[in-house]
Amino acid sequence: MTMPIRPRRLRQSAAVRRLVAETRIDPAQLVLPMFVREGLAEPRPLESMPGVLHHSVDSLRRAAAEAAAAGIGGVMLFGVPEQRDGIGSGATDPDGILNVATRAVAEEVGDALVVQTDLCLDEFTDHGHCGVLAADGSVDNDATLLRYREMALAQAEAGSQLLGLSGMMDGQVAAVREALDEAGRSDVLLLGYAAKYASALYGPFREAVESALQGDRRTYQLDPANRREGRREAVLDVEQGADVVMVKPASFYLDVLADVAAESPVPVWAYQVSGEYAMVEAAGRNGWIDRDRAVLESITSIRRAGADAVLTYWAVEVAGWLTNR
Ligand code: PBG
Repeated sequence: MTMPIRPRRLRQSAAVRRLVAETRIDPAQLVLPMFVREGLAEPRPLESMPGVLHHSVDSLRRAAAEAAAAGIGGVMLFGVPEQRDGIGSGATDPDGILNVATRAVAEEVGDALVVQTDLCLDEFTDHGHCGVLAADGSVDNDATLLRYREMALAQAEAGSQLLGLSGMMDGQVAAVREALDEAGRSDVLLLGYAAKYASALYGPFREAVESALQGDRRTYQLDPANRREGRREAVLDVEQGADVVMVKPASFYLDVLADVAAESPVPVWAYQVSGEYAMVEAAGRNGWIDRDRAVLESITSIRRAGADAVLTYWAVEVAGWLTNR
């Protein structure tokens, strides 16, 4: 039978498949989120995220050097302080855990990878919200922006090269850009968490940062039901000067990611969050899925949908697979 069009020809061997693959992952496109906890002498495993650690400053420094050697693009640092208060004082204190750790990592890795920090108050506040509270208990957007400005200066001073604005306050990119520029730090990059959804998938992360949150973040993070709103937030972040925009979580939001990637004039990143990680790890441990294949497939899918880079807790492991293939 004559059948000139046979799509299977392109799938006949590993060599052909490799040649025609539309999506590739380069280690440089992976960013590793890392946790550093104040007061630890030794790193400690995280129960909800098998394979992920609470680092001490020393072990963080060593792990960052390993990440650089693995060739990944960057690390995103999160700090877990011992003391918290209403305004998240630890976030702006030069001796606060995140700033101390940033200094150590920046000194260790130099320019081998991009040192990035989470710019948000939730790990530092005793109420667990991403901002400061008004008298009625609601999150006060504009008062929070003042704290973000101070936090940006502290993080830049500590050596962070890219600030991840994950708090979802209106106007946060513009406010932080202005503060940095006024301080002569126009070199510091801003990542706008443009489309950050109010997701159940942040569960393991909240354990990781020992979150004190009562209630939820639905008055500032996006409603999972909304697609158009994700695009709108990305447009606003770009208008305010974001150098990169983010979609988060990744796998449940590939439509939003594809929308943003289609229109964005700046790089688009996606955050494969703690719950995405934990689901694959748990199913893998139970023998219900092939863990390694699922890991690669998930990151490939996020890239295919349009992410230029991916924040993933598997960054270093996957970089090893890609390099030793
Ligand atoms: C806020 C922040 C969160 C995550 C990253 N930055 C949590 C939240 O909004 O509750 C979640 C990351 C993850 O789940 O892996 N500082």
